[in-house]
Amino acid sequence: MAKKRNIIVGQSGGPTAVINSSLAGVYKTAKERGFHKVYGMLHGIEGFLDEMYVDLSTQIHSDMDIELLKRTPSAFLGSCRYKLPDIHENPEIYEKIFSILDKLQIEAFIYIGGNDSMDTIKKLSDYAIVKGHSQKFLGVPKTIDNDLALTDHTPGFGSAAKYIATSTKEVIRDAMGLSYKRKMITIMEIMGRNAGWLTGATALAKTEECCGPDLIYLPEVPFDIEKFLKKCTDLLKKKSSIVVAVSEGIKTPDGTYVCQLSGGSDYVDAFGHAQLAGTAAYLAAYLADKTGHKTRAVELSTLQRSASHMASRVDINEAFMVGGAAVEAADEGDTGKMVVIDRVSDDPYMSAAGIYDVHKIANNEKLVPRNWVTRDGSYVTQDFINYVEPLIQGDYQPFMVNGLPQHLVLRR
Ligand code: F6P
Repeated sequence: MAKKRNIIVGQSGGPTAVINSSLAGVYKTAKERGFHKVYGMLHGIEGFLDEMYVDLSTQIHSDMDIELLKRTPSAFLGSCRYKLPDIHENPEIYEKIFSILDKLQIEAFIYIGGNDSMDTIKKLSDYAIVKGHSQKFLGVPKTIDNDLALTDHTPGFGSAAKYIATSTKEVIRDAMGLSYKRKMITIMEIMGRNAGWLTGATALAKTEECCGPDLIYLPEVPFDIEKFLKKCTDLLKKKSSIVVAVSEGIKTPDGTYVCQLSGGSDYVDAFGHAQLAGTAAYLAAYLADKTGHKTRAVELSTLQRSASHMASRVDINEAFMVGGAAVEAADEGDTGKMVVIDRVSDDPYMSAAGIYDVHKIANNEKLVPRNWVTRDGSYVTQDFINYVEPLIQGDYQPFMVNGLPQHLVLRR
């Protein structure tokens, strides 16, 4: 059988603890399927436009390297937040992309990313069809935010949820130990932009030996600061330490991000997303002022998406599966699609890869359903917990060298 031509893969958007497991799945499946070269674009489509790419066989030499890659956080190839202009705005960019693809004899283009990155797959596959190019364009889901439509969940979410729930347990214990004869309020700030999936995952901290967070606020429900103050003061009458989880994206009823109440950052990315940070700091200062008690703000920030030492085995395996499924789909002639994860059963938990039209996924946000948040908007329901729980199961132990996890590093 003649060797197939080449394939190229890129990573885009905010990284996760398992984004490289998808890359490993792409590489391994492409090799098994007989593709000649597997290229990796550096810093996604933005780097590709500067002709930045590597032949992945110069980076991955053995099955051991594949295993190491699966345990390596952040985007091994480098990522980007780059919005492709519309075709009519800048046809030259498209001509350039396709001339590089032709030069490299690329048959399939795989992009691992979230809803903004799927916009790239949508635009490139549309252009290829209109202009009669034969390359196939496939998306592989990825985001800790879990806000992609039509997939049960996204790779990266389960591991971030596991890290967040674990950290919540640890923070609760830390605060409890120090609250003898004094009150203490801890506010934890969790990523997720306009979707509260990750913040809701703090509820998993409620176990036999841990009471879990006292209050949980998702961005799906308008945040009323006075009701919040009353809830906190009522709780402090009953217990000396309270821990509150807030999403970075909570907004007041008039639509203002809480993090912008104290100024916040003016930074806006190519997709128009404001940088959201400072929600916990704002609320901790507000509560310290109103109650006179000690407060602390804990911003989990990038730790929650890079904690590969706390990755979930389910998540690593699914990330690998969807990477491989994208190569299979492209090889079988699909284009303009994204691989999704279908939940086959809850008990025992089982999932399978499916595939959907990327036009229905790009630029959409899947939010937490309102009926998975309690009526007063200060906690998540048991249905929410049942949905997340299977996704944090199992470990994927890092390879430890001299007491620290080892990672695979790009060599040029
Ligand atoms: O896209 C995932 C995400 O982690 C969001 O939850 C968060 O708002 C954003 O990335 C932060 O991105 P950056 O690190 O580029 O500021």
